[in-house]
Amino acid sequence: MKIAIGVDHGGFSLKQTLVDEVKELGHTVVDCGAAKYDAHDDYPDFARAVGAAIQRGDAERGVIVCGSGVGASIAATKMRGVRAALCHDTYSAHQGVEHDNMNVLCLGARIIGDELARELVRAFLSARFDTRERFQRRLNKVLEIEKGGN
Ligand code: RB5
Repeated sequence: MKIAIGVDHGGFSLKQTLVDEVKELGHTVVDCGAAKYDAHDDYPDFARAVGAAIQRGDAERGVIVCGSGVGASIAATKMRGVRAALCHDTYSAHQGVEHDNMNVLCLGARIIGDELARELVRAFLSARFDTRERFQRRLNKVLEIEKGGN
């Protein structure tokens, strides 16, 4: 798969670890920045870049890292077709894909270390959406909400 990775200054310390992990797993990285540490950059710019890569079809999934993971997830979930969530436990990282078709994993580099981040990415990328009727039905309801339906 092609995996978009975006980090702000709060997430920068995890970037290379995640890039290496994604490559080791046999995936291709779509680099959505930041290219270098900049204490004044803003997480919505990188969340938007990852979301846009998914919307264009340039990436199938994404990982966004900020300090807590909260801002990244708030920003990314504003984008149509992006199903992002902050997951700092491995159960959520794979179950979010299996049940909810999560396509963006958000992480907080000030909260977790390198090894947990690697495990979370492994759990996220190895999971596949479970297309059984109840999960598809719930996803369809989420998509209705996204369309502005009631
Ligand atoms: C940046 O200092 C920090 O606010 C940001 O990375 C993120 O944690 C926001 O949720």
